[in-house]
Amino acid sequence: MTAISEPLISAAPSTYQPLPPRVHHAPQRIAEDVHLIRQLEGEGTSPMCVYINSLVITGREPMLVDTGSASNRDQWLQDVNGIVDLREVRWIWISHDDRDHLGNLEAVLELCPNATLVVDWLTVQRTAHEYRLPMTRMRWINDGDHLCTPDRTFIALRPPTYDSPTTRGLYDTRSRVYWSSDSFGTAVAHHVDAASDLPLAAFEEGMSMFNRLLSPWTAMVDRVKFSDRVRAVRTLDARAVATCHGPVIRDAQLEAAFELMTRLPQLGAVPLPGQEQLEAMLAAITKG
Ligand SMILES: [Fe+2]
Ligand SMILES: [Fe+2]
Repeated sequence: MTAISEPLISAAPSTYQPLPPRVHHAPQRIAEDVHLIRQLEGEGTSPMCVYINSLVITGREPMLVDTGSASNRDQWLQDVNGIVDLREVRWIWISHDDRDHLGNLEAVLELCPNATLVVDWLTVQRTAHEYRLPMTRMRWINDGDHLCTPDRTFIALRPPTYDSPTTRGLYDTRSRVYWSSDSFGTAVAHHVDAASDLPLAAFEEGMSMFNRLLSPWTAMVDRVKFSDRVRAVRTLDARAVATCHGPVIRDAQLEAAFELMTRLPQLGAVPLPGQEQLEAMLAAITKG
């Protein structure tokens, strides 16, 4: 058995810590009272990039929707605090229990003492090895439930694609923005402010690839039942779909996105790169 020295144990986390993004993209106001906090992973280092977004909804009882990535904590907190005084935040909505949605949860719970955490039972269970979430500051909302605040009603609606059983999308009936969590994410070659800034073919290709990687199980599902869920989201009649992992989608691109999502089960899973591709990448890096 190899003895693990103390210095090695303490050095391990920083050795493999991800670097914060090279470029900062300022928050984007996507509707009245609704702001998209943006972070683009892979920009400048990778041929395709993926956003890690979150939302701030202001109004009478401000809400944070997901909490971004820990690797970008300082900038994320600055961006959020530039829109809303953290002490005035009333709700923290967690769309599911993945790290890119919970990255700054502890900081937010500390800095927003007046906020109630909106999760579900399963999130509490699945994160118990990492967090002792405050049960007395919590509201459990399941798929189909409503959350009413003085100036708006939110509807929890699970999006068609997802990678965690805790996933609940969020529809704000006032702004008519739907937060689709991971769903409707789109891999992009460079930063854009909206899906409409991409050629339609590039948008569809990036969205198809992202959603099939996210949910390879779509290749196995009953197509009618899957299209029922796409229709349920479409029936919300959202003005915009904001996703954690892509640019905001509206208008013609939104129609195209629903059409593509309906066809997703027919497209099959995306084959993943293997050892051969890894070796080619390493050779290219070494050569470079
Ligand atoms: Fe996820
Ligand atoms: Fe995610």
